Amino acid sequence: MAISRMFQILILSLFYYYSSYISVLAANNPTYNVQSYGAKSNGKSDCTNAFLSAWGAACASTAPATIYVPPGRYLLRNAYFSGSLCKNTAITIRIDGTLVAPSDYNAIGKNGSWLKFERVTGVSIYGGTLDGQGANLWACKNSGKNCPKGATSLAFYNSNNIRINGLVSVNSQMFHILVDGCRNANLVNVRVSAPGNSPNTDGIHVQQSSGVTIMNSHVATGDDCVSIGPGASNLWIENLACGPGHGISIGSLGWDMKEAGVQNVTVKTATFSGTENGVRVKTWARPSNGFVRDVLFQHLVMVNVQNPVIIDQNYCPNHQNCPHQGSGVKISNVRYEDIHGTSATQVAVKFDCSEMRPCSGIRLDEVNLTFRDKPATASCANAGGTADGVVKPSSCL
Ligand SMILES: *[C@@H]1O[C@H](CO)[C@@H](O)[C@H](O)[C@H]1NC(C)=O
Ligand SMILES: *[C@@H]1O[C@H](CO)[C@@H](O)[C@H](O)[C@H]1NC(C)=O
Ligand SMILES: *[C@@H]1O[C@H](CO)[C@@H](O)[C@H](O)[C@H]1NC(C)=O
Repeated sequence: MAISRMFQILILSLFYYYSSYISVLAANNPTYNVQSYGAKSNGKSDCTNAFLSAWGAACASTAPATIYVPPGRYLLRNAYFSGSLCKNTAITIRIDGTLVAPSDYNAIGKNGSWLKFERVTGVSIYGGTLDGQGANLWACKNSGKNCPKGATSLAFYNSNNIRINGLVSVNSQMFHILVDGCRNANLVNVRVSAPGNSPNTDGIHVQQSSGVTIMNSHVATGDDCVSIGPGASNLWIENLACGPGHGISIGSLGWDMKEAGVQNVTVKTATFSGTENGVRVKTWARPSNGFVRDVLFQHLVMVNVQNPVIIDQNYCPNHQNCPHQGSGVKISNVRYEDIHGTSATQVAVKFDCSEMRPCSGIRLDEVNLTFRDKPATASCANAGGTADGVVKPSSCL
């Protein structure tokens, strides 16, 4: 009896402490519901100011805060979330609804980004769908008319410790997600979707950034699934499904004479389905001091991919803007391990490197790519390296 009484008291007091702990947490971690700031979930009322007010309120507090977006559709114009006056370094944006861009592409298409975060630290976005409503702009671009460049749906500039989990981005006007000038960004469970013929709709573009990871994500779009620009380092991509799209591309690099290099990139466990490329490194045929080094492509499956493995250092569309013909970008230590599946083109492995600065340290290990049940071929120019294990088509290094 005494024991069970003591036990009862113990449980009750534990419960008491637990509930006061929870209420303390709630008091210290305020939630800012965008509807309290005037947002309407009808998809028609302009919610930009309501979202910016909620952001301002979260930024005014130093305790971890949550901005909450309930289910429904929220129309937003260009919304710039600036960290320069933000005191908060732990803001969670929990989105149960869909953020919709204006249907008139001119409304956001001239500004570069639709939803832009700049100089923020510790922002996490959980859930949510972004609908860029890009179709009319793509139609304009495809008709050859003079159209605005279009806006990236979600851009992070010069920001640190970013987390995106469970975000869906559909039909962006231009890039879906941009990470530029950032340190430590974690993108997981991201889904990108746009038609295979939508122009310039890269899935995730990373540049001038270090410590970016992209995991467990699915990109189906009209341009690169992931594109990697100058100054990307310590980038980790794992468990990615890509297609339709143009594959994963390091580049285009080497447009500028002085350019930050790309270093330490890992692409591990990815499937490419019907894409225009698998894994590509692409540099302009122009002088540049840029470089690409320490890249690992590992455990990749190619399903009917046009250029499964490709280095193209002679990129110069229409033979314009390449005065001295020949890329200055030095490519070294690029490893391809366990790459298999089907190529949609006869040349499944192509290393077209710079005559001025040949590729070095290319390594192939367990590569098996077939072309319509026939042997595929490999083609090399100015490429040095080694091959181990089964390598089909046989290496030309
Ligand atoms: C969009 O760009 C125009 C022209 O550069 C600028 O005047 C305007 O302030 C920008 N919109 C936002 C929301 O910053
Ligand atoms: C390469 O990047 C990964 C993260 O992608 C990091 O863990 C690792 O330490 C980096 N390696 C070097 C040598 O910097
Ligand atoms: C290469 O892949 C083909 C098609 O999947 C398969 O039939 C063949 O056995 C593989 N070759 C080796 C050496 O693994």
